[in-house]
Amino acid sequence: MLLLKKLHKWLSLLVGLQLLLWLGTGLYFNLMDHEKASGNQYRQRPAEAQLDINKLVEPKLILSKAKQVVSIKQISLLAQPYYLLTHTKGLYSHFKNEYSLVDAYTAEPAIIDEAMARKLAQSSYKGQGRVISATELSPPYEDIPREQNEVWQVNYADEVNTSVYVDAGSGRIVKHSNDDKRFVDIFFMLHFMDYGTEGSFNNAQIIVFAIFTLFFSLTGFIWTIELAFNGQYKVTFSNNKRKLALFDKEQKSLGEFDVTTKTNLLDGLVEHDIALPSNCGGGGTCGQCRVRLDGKVKVTSADHAHFTDEQLQQGFRLACQHDAMEAEKLALIDTLVTNKAKKYLLELTHSEFVSPFIKELRFKPVGDENIKFKAGAHMRFHIPPAKGISIPSRLPDAFKRYWHDIECLEYEHQACSRNYSLANGNGQIEDGANELVFTVKIQNAPNKTVLPGVGSSYICNLEVGETIEAVGPIESFFAKELSNKPMMFIGAGSGMAPLKSLIEEQLNLLHKGRKVNRDIYFFYGARTEEDLLYKEDFFNLSRKKANFHYYPILSKPPEGWSGAKGYIQDILASNIDNICQLKGIEFYLCGPAQMMSETINLLKTKNVDASNIAFDEFN
Ligand code: FES
Repeated sequence: MLLLKKLHKWLSLLVGLQLLLWLGTGLYFNLMDHEKASGNQYRQRPAEAQLDINKLVEPKLILSKAKQVVSIKQISLLAQPYYLLTHTKGLYSHFKNEYSLVDAYTAEPAIIDEAMARKLAQSSYKGQGRVISATELSPPYEDIPREQNEVWQVNYADEVNTSVYVDAGSGRIVKHSNDDKRFVDIFFMLHFMDYGTEGSFNNAQIIVFAIFTLFFSLTGFIWTIELAFNGQYKVTFSNNKRKLALFDKEQKSLGEFDVTTKTNLLDGLVEHDIALPSNCGGGGTCGQCRVRLDGKVKVTSADHAHFTDEQLQQGFRLACQHDAMEAEKLALIDTLVTNKAKKYLLELTHSEFVSPFIKELRFKPVGDENIKFKAGAHMRFHIPPAKGISIPSRLPDAFKRYWHDIECLEYEHQACSRNYSLANGNGQIEDGANELVFTVKIQNAPNKTVLPGVGSSYICNLEVGETIEAVGPIESFFAKELSNKPMMFIGAGSGMAPLKSLIEEQLNLLHKGRKVNRDIYFFYGARTEEDLLYKEDFFNLSRKKANFHYYPILSKPPEGWSGAKGYIQDILASNIDNICQLKGIEFYLCGPAQMMSETINLLKTKNVDASNIAFDEFN
């Protein structure tokens, strides 16, 4: 299917270019001066011979002396009568023909030599130019591409460079051409795709182009069918609103809501401050945005992946996979995050690589509205349909070597939404932070059949000053009520963002006017030293704050690295008992799925109560 889509894309380019050429050249044909374009500006009808019938030689006599004559015709050249004998006859005069000429009064054979060709050309020319050359030519000819017989080209020195073409066998004036005609011929060539010597639209290029156009239509048709089968193809004529009856999980009515038909139900509900749980931001992979619709609503492949047949029959669906056009009633299932989530327009104020694959992005809301959020919250970004490229723009020189092996692919993607956790947390609870900081990892494609991370690529390629819509803050991961229990933060990769936010919040918390002094342990895993985000900041913090303990761990450490080496879950397994008393500690986890599941299993084997483990899952 990927090949078919690629083929469709390239064919669309070809067909689109030719359509533009047709439009441009067609417009020119309508506007041009047809008199000039004919090339006959200085053409006139040659004088006819005044026949003296008594002097004419009998055609029978001519024929008796000639061989293989198909036809005989009396013609006039330079006001003199001639017999034109055709020995081989083509279907049209420009097809290959074989002629001979005989003087109609003397029966003497005549040939079109240079002197005769010049005179014949002059008899059909009414301009003021003089003849500058006369050349006998063989096909093909640029000015007369269809002509297959030998001709004399007689050139004139006039303001339009007229050329008169005289048939070398019959003396027929084949054509007048000039600069105006030659200019128009270029447009005819483009319009009729006549890049060879056919001189007409019945050419091989047009036949090949017609086959390409047929493939273009077929691939488009197959693609449309695929979209329809996947439930991704929707025909909407306007961005209308539709009433949706809303119920809670006990089927108690919550009233009617207007939901726009162009957005999915996950995003549509946010407009009414109802944020469903979601870790994948509408990608259909996390399975958290569960709602109940009418059982007849179509079932998408993502619905199939997350619900049993029985649940599907009961109307269980993923809200991110359906829009308001498909449903009249919606029942909420899971506990809702009904909070201050709102739609904002955010302007990018800063974008910088902080590791080879992770960028720090800073946004401010347009209009300078303060966005208050709890540390650990995330925003759901609306990624518009766009073209993407697998290698980001403006890669710093220091990180280019990490991208050498990654293939540079261009692709197109549909609109989608993606969740990104906030990475700042300093003082936002009391004052409201006007700057939103994110650390976003640019997801590479695992193979050629899968697109790179469309959300991460799009957002990381935004230029400073550009804007993007986002909904939030969605506060599904946050610290427990203030206590004196120590906290352990465990993360890796771009799981840094919510943990950094929580750590900053906790280190700045005041309780009854005094700084809270609970112990905070931060284990952060990365591959290389360059992947250790904010390394200096955390080392500085650990030097300044006696209650903050920072443990960076590298799986591919450089020589001389004095910190822990290996995978974070393995290091914890062998050392966690020596670090602190586990009983009563609050654990906060965020990172890749394998690290999270192995760490949670480890904590369970250490009898850590599940209520003390909070984690932010991300896909
Ligand atoms: S599956 Fe719908 S938000 Fe993740």
